[in-house]
Amino acid sequence: MERLQKVLARRGVASRRKSEEYIAAGRVAVNGEIVRELGTKVDPDKDLITVDGQATAKAQLVYLAFHKPLYCITSKSDPQGRPTIMDFLPPAYQELHPVGRLDWNTEGLLLLTNDGELTFKITHPSYEIEKTYLVWTETGVGKKELEKLAGGINLEDGPTSPGRARLIEPGLIELTIHEGRNRQVRRMMGSLNLPVKRLQRISLGPIELKDLSPGKFRKLTQKEINNLKKGSSS
Ligand code: URA
Repeated sequence: MERLQKVLARRGVASRRKSEEYIAAGRVAVNGEIVRELGTKVDPDKDLITVDGQATAKAQLVYLAFHKPLYCITSKSDPQGRPTIMDFLPPAYQELHPVGRLDWNTEGLLLLTNDGELTFKITHPSYEIEKTYLVWTETGVGKKELEKLAGGINLEDGPTSPGRARLIEPGLIELTIHEGRNRQVRRMMGSLNLPVKRLQRISLGPIELKDLSPGKFRKLTQKEINNLKKGSSS
């Protein structure tokens, strides 16, 4: 038996939080009975689960690695008409949702899926998935600054958890962090007076950007999906 909102999220109906809202709003029925209780458990193989009277079914789950190019927003749509990541995906993938977000002027690896359960897990602060970035800076970065970046930086919304930082060449560092706070890398660098010239995410847990070109996507392998679900990095 599983929680109703978990099953709805996995079936691609909506994120787990949105599914909870649907339940509370009385839009979800199990075997013909409206259910408003969030803790309700169901048997996904036997129970008939409907949303607004429409049967839900096991979704064909899709997992993509996408190379977000510069100057587009990580959103399904934009009221201001700016380019979004969805402009780069074919019609068949327009129902997918981004897992987390990258800034307008950040490039690199972004996952997209219709697996609401995995999205919930990865974006939950307790999951602490490793995120690695290449950070190009306007000025050189010293040993002390690398140590501070790796050790954790005190930001206005609290200290960042320890990560890793190494110099690749003058003006280019590789930084690994575990959280996904708003503009986290830029704020960490800013607190050390290190203006960021360019920012690219090159990995997210076990998934690597490698040679995927900007604006292009690829399907994750089954091994990558399994590792992502396990929270393992290889
Ligand atoms: N950190 C940032 O500052 N921006 C991003 O887009 C991702 C991480």
